[in-house]
Amino acid sequence: MRIGVLTSGGDCPGLNAVIRSVVHRAVVDHGDEVIGFHDGWRGLLECDYRKLDLDAVGGILARGGTILGSSRVRPEHLRDGVERAKGHVSDLGLDAIIPIGGEGTLKAAHLLSEGGLPIVGVPKTIDNDIASTDVTFGFDTAVGVATEALDRLKTTAESHQRVLIVEVMGRHTGWIALHSGMAAGAHAIVVPERPFDIGELTARVGERFSAGKRFAIVVVAEGAKPREGSMDWDEGGKDVYGHERFAGVARQLSVELEQRLGKEARPVILGHVQRGGTPTAYDRVLATRFGWHAVEAVHRGEFGMLTALRGTEITMAPLSRAVETLKTVPAERYAEAQCVL
Ligand code: F6P
Repeated sequence: MRIGVLTSGGDCPGLNAVIRSVVHRAVVDHGDEVIGFHDGWRGLLECDYRKLDLDAVGGILARGGTILGSSRVRPEHLRDGVERAKGHVSDLGLDAIIPIGGEGTLKAAHLLSEGGLPIVGVPKTIDNDIASTDVTFGFDTAVGVATEALDRLKTTAESHQRVLIVEVMGRHTGWIALHSGMAAGAHAIVVPERPFDIGELTARVGERFSAGKRFAIVVVAEGAKPREGSMDWDEGGKDVYGHERFAGVARQLSVELEQRLGKEARPVILGHVQRGGTPTAYDRVLATRFGWHAVEAVHRGEFGMLTALRGTEITMAPLSRAVETLKTVPAERYAEAQCVL
């Protein structure tokens, strides 16, 4: 068989582990040929690719980023490109394409699959918000990075008796905020799923100082918003891909909390450091399993599907359902964290 693989959308620790696993399973075990498209869908649309053999994937298991490169392509561009993509798949004699990506990539994969292309998707995102799978690789790494940062920030916050508002990634969901906040013992966690009340947040942090504590750490997901009318709020705008360009929740909250509490407050934006660097062992294993199962699905002719973790098992789920809704943090999880607003 001849299989094409690509990585699309925001990068994520573990992408290289999937690529390596696909090549190992396909080339070594099945005698297939694998090619890798450069920079996501762009590579497929422009027929820009290279052959992936064992040498090409040597030593990449622990490497962050993606050796193939990634890009964001607007779905409407791809819609126009379905016929072009089909032409390239047929010219290259490809039996299947394995796109590795998050929400946007899986939407595009679904579109191409509906257009008749043989596709098996692999979900990835540090945000952990793909509904079809219990966990996405990259999430564990991102939570680890954020937790380490929070641990470090506690000591400087305490030295200066400050409130630190730490912004973590999570456009639509608060998984990273919830897990890193719980792991580091944050004093308040603010997630996009629950618009916050600035009065409640101020009271929670204020109580801590009244109890004699010298600092407070607030973890906030970048997509969090206040309750309607709760405070003045800059919504930000959209980037060229139509994604929200946030106006800085940590920055806005630090100004507001400083005024309300009369305590020094500082915003800390962790940003893309959460996505960079080597994946954790957990993410390497999950990514490797996804790659292995994606190749098996290709050999079974199980197209229009994506790999998914359910409990401890890898299963296949329909691409159509994967793009319907995002996996948000369920309300019962807030209680466990004890400090979600
Ligand atoms: O990978 C998902 C994500 O981390 C979001 O949480 C974040 O909003 C987005 O990517 C930012 O990515 P980029 O700057 O590459 O558009």
